[in-house]
Amino acid sequence: MSQQIGIASDHGGKVLKDKITRFLKEQKLIVEDFGVPLDSSASVDYPDFAAQLSLSISQGKLKRGILVCGSGVGMSIAANKFPGVRAALVQDEFTAKMCRLHNDANVLCLGERVINHDRALDFVKLWLTTEFEGGRHQSRLDKITLIEQTQSAAPSK
Ligand code: RB5
Repeated sequence: MSQQIGIASDHGGKVLKDKITRFLKEQKLIVEDFGVPLDSSASVDYPDFAAQLSLSISQGKLKRGILVCGSGVGMSIAANKFPGVRAALVQDEFTAKMCRLHNDANVLCLGERVINHDRALDFVKLWLTTEFEGGRHQSRLDKITLIEQTQSAAPSK
């Protein structure tokens, strides 16, 4: 596991973010932390933090990232607005593995208030170590890319 990985949270995810960051560093991964700091007492807006990390992925500066909020839902919605970002909201081991095998998920979203924090590290391990299967799954991802390219230009009403 030698790669750089981004991580970000809002106030609802900062405790789990800190635990995951310490775990990643123990694995000798280089972590780029987009905030929010653990000692911050501010209530912040999760799209701001999702956007910073997701932009880095979208621009090819980072290959992988982890987003944490209270439920994981807001982070996943925001991250998936960015072209090239495939964010998966994960609450179990099966999804942690499948989102890599079939979806090549490059962003892992977790809910601090939903999942057991020790188990969350197992999800991170699975997501980091499972390779994309390619093949028929690649052509499905190509269709998602086509949606990104064609639907983003849709005029608003
Ligand atoms: C913050 O209270 C909470 O709404 C946020 O962390 C997240 O769960 C949103 O999806």
